[in-house]
Amino acid sequence: MSKSKAIIKTEEEIELMRLSNQLVSKVLGELSNYIQPGISTLRLDEIAYTYIKDHHAEPAFLNYKPHSSKTAYPYTLCVSVNEYVVHGMPKKDCILKEGDVVSIDCGVKLNGYFGDSAYTFSVGELKPEVMQLLSVTYECLELGIEKAVHGNRVGDIGYAVQVHAEKHGYGVVRELVGHGVGRSLHEAPEVPNYGGRGRGMVLVEGLVIAIEPMINMGTRKLLLDQDGWSLRTADKLPSAHFEHTVVVRKGKAEKLTTFEFIKNGKTAVI
Ligand code: MF3
Ligand code: CO
Repeated sequence: MSKSKAIIKTEEEIELMRLSNQLVSKVLGELSNYIQPGISTLRLDEIAYTYIKDHHAEPAFLNYKPHSSKTAYPYTLCVSVNEYVVHGMPKKDCILKEGDVVSIDCGVKLNGYFGDSAYTFSVGELKPEVMQLLSVTYECLELGIEKAVHGNRVGDIGYAVQVHAEKHGYGVVRELVGHGVGRSLHEAPEVPNYGGRGRGMVLVEGLVIAIEPMINMGTRKLLLDQDGWSLRTADKLPSAHFEHTVVVRKGKAEKLTTFEFIKNGKTAVI
């Protein structure tokens, strides 16, 4: 669970966090070269593991233990295909096919600081309604980031995300939330994707948070797989997830992660 007090980073710390977040962005970019029909989600995990190790960093999710009741997470990536929302475990027999959407969430630790980002890729042509789910979820992320400015409150972010998603009739996942990032992968504050304007903790310059809307085409209700990790939608409709790590600044948030390394044609949003 998150520690209760938010940690404000110095500019020196932010420079270090820029490096870990740049690396995690490059991992997603590297993976975009391999996302195509026929590849297994386990193979994507191996590619990410090797890439991170080659760049003198550590995979942040591997062996991560969020709650004492849970077993340590055994992979580098969370790879969530179609109706899987988040925490999808990579599998040898999960083979991507045309029309799939695949959310890939990656965390790295470099020089003591974490980087965290997620992106939902398309595998070939998508149905228009799935394409729209991806675009709207991406817009939710951008609208949330616009609210991550000095003097606003955490609830302003959630409110912006929720209003936009629900306007399209989508379900906003509530069980999982964004979070502070720093020397720990998950720090205070929690950053829900729903909320009330003007509610929650006041955001101050130097706070580093991961904003990560998880939006379902249908119900927001989730089911947990037998593996104890993989979460899927109760109605089996697809889900999308985008995540950026950002610094709260005066006037405009600063993104530490970027989707610029992701190759065209692997996405509905850039
Ligand atoms: N990026 C996710 C998060 O921010 C995933 C954590 S997966 C875990 O919470 F395996 F590390 F738990
Ligand atoms: Co995160």
